[in-house]
Amino acid sequence: MQCNPREILISPDFVSPLEEKNIFYELIKQRRSTRKFKKQPIEKEKIDQLIEAALRSPSSKGFNPWRFIIVNRSELLEKLAAAKPHGSSFLARAPLGIVVCADPLVSDVCIEDASIASTFIHLAAQSLGLGSCWIQIRKRNHTPSKSADNYIKDLLHIPDNIMIESIIAIGYPDAVKKGHPKRNLEYDKVSFNRFSAKD
Ligand SMILES: Cc1cc2nc3c(=O)[nH]c(=O)nc-3n(C[C@H](O)[C@H](O)[C@H](O)COP(=O)(O)O)c2cc1C
Repeated sequence: MQCNPREILISPDFVSPLEEKNIFYELIKQRRSTRKFKKQPIEKEKIDQLIEAALRSPSSKGFNPWRFIIVNRSELLEKLAAAKPHGSSFLARAPLGIVVCADPLVSDVCIEDASIASTFIHLAAQSLGLGSCWIQIRKRNHTPSKSADNYIKDLLHIPDNIMIESIIAIGYPDAVKKGHPKRNLEYDKVSFNRFSAKD
């Protein structure tokens, strides 16, 4: 039997008692990517919490193949912001960037592990009243002849064998963005027990 989740969910405005006062749901309902930051620096305690969140992320077989580089020097952030021609310039105006790296010699699924760690940092930032945005590095180019990954390796003295997954730009948000309304969620991409073609 094929179930359409739209038939199961009472209405897009329905708030389940399971969601009410649940800090995780409150967090993800408000979560958005932030690219505009205040000049305000981030307190050391909050940076410590972000680092702890990254290190608490799960990894395949517990191999923890990630490495994190915390960048808070503005001249370095400006250089990192130029890692690729699009989608990274806002890092120059962020007070903090966390470069998430992965070691393929430690785990064959280090990309998944580094992605999860990037997400943990993104959500931890939100929980601390900070905004953040993922900047994709893996498979992106700095120039047609140089990868974004190689550009950053030169800048931060990262060994050749290490992969760079992302940079998470973090800071106090300069503007409030509303979370996505529940009615916009793509429930038609969810099916029970078998794949369901979209109409
Ligand atoms: C894997 C991944 C790569 C992303 N890369 C970039 C990027 O390079 N630059 C950028 O500005 N945003 C990037 N984003 C943020 C997305 O653009 C953003 O999550 C998406 O537009 C949805 O907006 P929201 O996060 O506000 O819901 C990335 C997000 C993910 C998950």
